[in-house]
Amino acid sequence: MKYLNLLLLSAIVSAPVMADTTNGEALHQGNCVRCHDSAVYTRENKRVQSLDKLGTQVRFCKDNLRISWFDDEVDDVVEYLNKSYYHF
Ligand code: HEC
Repeated sequence: MKYLNLLLLSAIVSAPVMADTTNGEALHQGNCVRCHDSAVYTRENKRVQSLDKLGTQVRFCKDNLRISWFDDEVDDVVEYLNKSYYHF
């Protein structure tokens, strides 16, 4: 996990113009697809019903995993999920 974060970090540093959602997608791909795939974001009875709740849920899953992301990294993932799936 640490190694992966380092890899992601170097990708970010070497490409400073990358869009936030691209960073969010990379973070998501590296950390978040172990338990559930993206079907959980689009299922009929999905839990998250607002942008606020999406932020809460991303933090909840992240904290459960003990991943240390900066706030702006959390925001990148939230933005990626919103743009790709939730569309609030
Ligand atoms: C250790 C397993 C696990 C990992 C890894 C995990 N999650 Fe989750 N996640 C869950 C569970 C369990 C639920 C709740 C599923 C349910 O209610 O049926 C969930 C639900 C969600 C939902 C809400 C889906 C809905 O119903 O709208 C979001 C958003 C989400 N996770 C984001 C993330 C993000 C972002 C990451 C990476 C930081 C992540 N998850 C990694 C276990 C995990």
